[in-house]
Amino acid sequence: MEYSRLWASTFLSLFAMRRVVVTGLGAITPLGAGVKHTWRRLLDSASGITSTTSIGPGFDILPSRVAGLIPAGKREDGGWQAQDWLHAGDERQMAKFAQYAIASAHEALEDAGWHPTADHDLERTGVTIGSGIGNLDEAYNTSVAFEKGGYKKVSPLFVPRLLINLAAGHVSIRYGFKGPNHAATTACTTGLHAIGDASRLIAFGDADVMVAGGAESCIHPLAVAGFARARSLSTDWNDDPPASSRPFDRDRAGFVIGEGAGVVVLEELEHAKARKAEIYAEVKGYGLSSDAYHMTAPKENGEGAFLAMRQALRHANYKPAQVDYVNAHATSTKLGDAAENRAIKRILLGSEGRQDASQLNISSSKGAIGHLLGAAGAVEAIFTILSIGNNVLPPTLNLDSPGDPAHDFNCNYVAKTSQQHQVNVALSNSFGFGGTNASLCLAKYS
Ligand SMILES: *[C@@H]1O[C@H](CO)[C@@H](O)[C@H](O)[C@H]1NC(C)=O
Ligand SMILES: *[C@@H]1O[C@H](CO)[C@@H](O)[C@H](O)[C@H]1NC(C)=O
Ligand SMILES: *[C@@H]1O[C@H](CO)[C@@H](O)[C@H](O)[C@H]1NC(C)=O
Repeated sequence: MEYSRLWASTFLSLFAMRRVVVTGLGAITPLGAGVKHTWRRLLDSASGITSTTSIGPGFDILPSRVAGLIPAGKREDGGWQAQDWLHAGDERQMAKFAQYAIASAHEALEDAGWHPTADHDLERTGVTIGSGIGNLDEAYNTSVAFEKGGYKKVSPLFVPRLLINLAAGHVSIRYGFKGPNHAATTACTTGLHAIGDASRLIAFGDADVMVAGGAESCIHPLAVAGFARARSLSTDWNDDPPASSRPFDRDRAGFVIGEGAGVVVLEELEHAKARKAEIYAEVKGYGLSSDAYHMTAPKENGEGAFLAMRQALRHANYKPAQVDYVNAHATSTKLGDAAENRAIKRILLGSEGRQDASQLNISSSKGAIGHLLGAAGAVEAIFTILSIGNNVLPPTLNLDSPGDPAHDFNCNYVAKTSQQHQVNVALSNSFGFGGTNASLCLAKYS
């Protein structure tokens, strides 16, 4: 009896997926600590990219000396200082990426007004927060100390400070959330996978509320050296940091490493309505795919990206012509931006799409904040959600002349300044090393 009821409810949920909406936002980014500061500065075309030579030794000998760093300062001024966001002792116990995650989760939960205390509510609330790299600083320091001083030099906190799923763990410990607890780690797709996967957990009935996102803080000389060796980083603009991240621009020459976190509160629609929560947007579709091609390079025609977007739109049941805005993954690399551009045009133009490339509204926020790796997908999903909520297209900084070749880059990339335009349906793209591609389709709730 119990068993058949369980089966019936599983069967039902498979065919009548529950709707998922966004009710809270939190972010720590190179543009500021907190969503409000970040969003205002993004629309003001401000840059969060600075020189790394001021951080400390080790950076000055590297070919790329620019990064998107979290500004230090008081919380009310949009800056980061740990004591404004963390409990005493947290800083010692937690990796930097986990600190950013917990701060962003705190902001998102406040924003959503979700402070459950009843057992049932706590059991129905889960967390998925991932990171691409995790705590490289800790691994590095401990390796060096171990090599020199042996066993006694390894901190008892080494493992908890190292593990990537501890960001999600700390959030659940702080708030008592007993639902699903999970961490994606899919390189630069991490943040978007976390949100997409969390939406599935709600749709399928595993949770009613999910705190989901990504966090990263690995601006360490070793990480920069590694990405530089992979020839992924911008090296031409060390003397002019704000100009170094140039998505879709003819002179783009690699990505700029950044740090931060983005976390959203996702909620089952009826649950959100019942408590009269403010709804930012609805998660309509989620597509995942793989290039099945190369460790770091995209397939030239952008096939992986194309498949992910097509799947997200199918899942959402939208035609390509209904898409008003694409927040692109575009990291400012020669190959990546070109492949994604091709993929977006392939899916959004044509018989079921728009007729004219200049009608396609695409922008990349990485011009302003750089590439936040495992946090990028979550922070950019938040920008996409705010774009829908405010009917504004956030700008692509440093876009002097789209190219190259110029004739391929003939869409509207919202160069340099934001544009006011109705946004009902949007796609947010994220792609990662290893060939993993994801696209999330978000829409105005109605
Ligand atoms: C690693 O060591 C450097 C240099 O001593 C220090 O600045 C940094 O805070 C250490 N990081 C961690 C996570 O302990
Ligand atoms: C899909 O993922 C790969 C990961 O290597 C990424 O480099 C690529 O840009 C993505 N595909 C496309 C077509 O953008
Ligand atoms: C793109 O944005 C512009 C305004 O910046 C608008 O005129 C145009 O209709 C938009 N295109 C689409 C497909 O929404």
